[in-house]
Amino acid sequence: MNTHLLALQDFSQTQLQAFLDRAAVLKKEAQNGLRHQQLAGKKICMLFEKPSTRTRVSFEAAMYEMGGQVIFMSAKESQLGRGEPLKDTARVLARYVDALVVRTFGQEVVEELAHFSAVPVINALTDLHHPCQILSDIMTVIEQKGDPSELKITWIGDGNNMANSWIQAASVLGFSLTLACPTGYDPDPTILKAAQQQGKQPITLLRDPQKAIQDADVVNVDVWASMGQEDEAKKRLAVFQPYQLNASLLAHAADNAIVLHCLPAHREEEITEEVLEGPHSVAFDQAENKMHIHKAILEYTINGMV
Ligand code: CP
Ligand code: NVA
Repeated sequence: MNTHLLALQDFSQTQLQAFLDRAAVLKKEAQNGLRHQQLAGKKICMLFEKPSTRTRVSFEAAMYEMGGQVIFMSAKESQLGRGEPLKDTARVLARYVDALVVRTFGQEVVEELAHFSAVPVINALTDLHHPCQILSDIMTVIEQKGDPSELKITWIGDGNNMANSWIQAASVLGFSLTLACPTGYDPDPTILKAAQQQGKQPITLLRDPQKAIQDADVVNVDVWASMGQEDEAKKRLAVFQPYQLNASLLAHAADNAIVLHCLPAHREEEITEEVLEGPHSVAFDQAENKMHIHKAILEYTINGMV
């Protein structure tokens, strides 16, 4: 079977858990000096239409550490940038490589590539989802705090791609999620409704960040203006000000709460320097875990799940 990773909702609880468990094993093995070769002889093409530091380098490092090779292509330097159809691009690239890792704007782009690709397509961020990131975030939560279903997990800020993928993760993995977003900046309503209907624990959207963060074990924040929303950045600065994660908002969370930020962070906007660099922040462990989770994702999508 050709396993694409486009959105977390497409997977079962067992399958998402398998990615998390496998990443933890691969991380431990790498720390113990084991050299993995599961992807020897395999190649991926990374097709990126938006900038990236972590996702690009962690996927590339993951592939090399597993014995494989990477071809990176920025979309605007490819024939896509001159209008070559996605369906032709997908069918051609699938003749050369074993998986496509794609960062783009519309979710429909990764869906169309997946429809026409004979090899797995992995979503490395769209406007709607950031599924691989949320898997590394949950891996970090498990390492730091244990079973997510026993925790109060919150999302403070924009109902963006990250929020949508957290919502799907909560629904599939069966943990509760409390979001606080300003009016007009809700997560995707279809995704939220489906997750609320299917999730085993409540997924709640509030307006008040203080109420949402009350006694939280895990606090998630992200930028107020995502890639592609640069024109709205000034307006968003004013709207989101009450949602800034600063020491006084964080004081409402549990004493030993952890703070997650997928990075890049805009200090003194969505998070203060004090909080990002403070004792609650696990943002850099979270960034490291992207590489470990990407190894599991590449192994399972290319070689098949064991
Ligand atoms: N967190 C994340 O996806 O970062 P990059 O945009 O640097 O890849
Ligand atoms: N929501 C952010 C995430 C960046 C990793 C964006 O899409 O720009």
